[in-house]
Amino acid sequence: MTVTVQTWADEVRTLAQRRNAVILAHNYQVPEIQDVAHHTGDSLALSRIAATAEAETIVFCGVHFMAETAKILSPDKTVLIPDARAGCSLADSIDADQLRAWKREHPGAVVVSYVNTTAEVKAETDICCTSSNAVEVVDSVPADREVLFLPDQFLGAHVRRITGRDNMHVWAGECHVHAGINGAQLAAKAAEDPDADLYIHPECGCATSALYLAGEGAVPAERVKILSTGGMLDAARATTSKSVLVATEIGMLHQLRKAAPEVDFRAVNDRASCRYMKMITPEKLLRSLREGVDEVQVAPAIAARARSAVERMIAIGTPGGGE
Ligand code: 13P
Ligand code: SF4
Repeated sequence: MTVTVQTWADEVRTLAQRRNAVILAHNYQVPEIQDVAHHTGDSLALSRIAATAEAETIVFCGVHFMAETAKILSPDKTVLIPDARAGCSLADSIDADQLRAWKREHPGAVVVSYVNTTAEVKAETDICCTSSNAVEVVDSVPADREVLFLPDQFLGAHVRRITGRDNMHVWAGECHVHAGINGAQLAAKAAEDPDADLYIHPECGCATSALYLAGEGAVPAERVKILSTGGMLDAARATTSKSVLVATEIGMLHQLRKAAPEVDFRAVNDRASCRYMKMITPEKLLRSLREGVDEVQVAPAIAARARSAVERMIAIGTPGGGE
């Protein structure tokens, strides 16, 4: 007698097919979820996939603002997240009332919000961006218009540096995971491995230190790359280096190692784990598909006001960042 053992992954894919669901996973998810998903990628790539998905249901394995963005882009689809409590410390650093007050202080300014914001904040926004297209989005704003950039101060500083824009105001928010990857850790790791490339997410507190190390000649400038998570994957596929130091959430290492198995990828801070991303577990994904939970809803009036900002975001910048 043959006994067929259905694995967790088989069951997930079978249930997804029965529900006509597509599973999207962010690069910070646990490896099992990244591997079972139909698409794994960065925030921008996943938003683009969500906007054009043919499936009736999107199961978003990521944090709440990502699933909300999918619902804003595809309001007629059912959007599920395996645990609706998966928040984001960066998105929590500004609410719609705070943004309205900031706008009153700068009448006529163009509001550029990182996608890591709530739907209510997006409804008060002119253009959203992600870490992979933030520079292009800010460059798309006429040079004589003031820009309010929110909520991440480190990404804001990076964009201001690249664009050379001095009429850009930056909100003082941060992501607790990336802010915790600091310059001292980076300098120590870079000194241990002077030939390594450095891949730094622009939300990191160490992004400025990385550029400083390059400026000082401690690390050759061409080895320092400030990249979104999707940009890191593109760089990994092209690198000729034997080792790479990675400054972002540690879930990223799984995709990097799959993309370039011959390269030694090491975390700058191996405790940089996002507890919100890790609230999405294999068991919860199964429950989500079995029971149709947790369903993400965005009030239609808020979604309607947020949609053009999100649509402008997905139209700007080169495709990539997902598979
Ligand atoms: P990416 O857009 O680079 O995927 O980053 C998303 C995020 O939440 C960073 O912490
Ligand atoms: Fe939010 Fe930071 Fe987690 Fe990304 S890593 S989801 S920015 S808390």
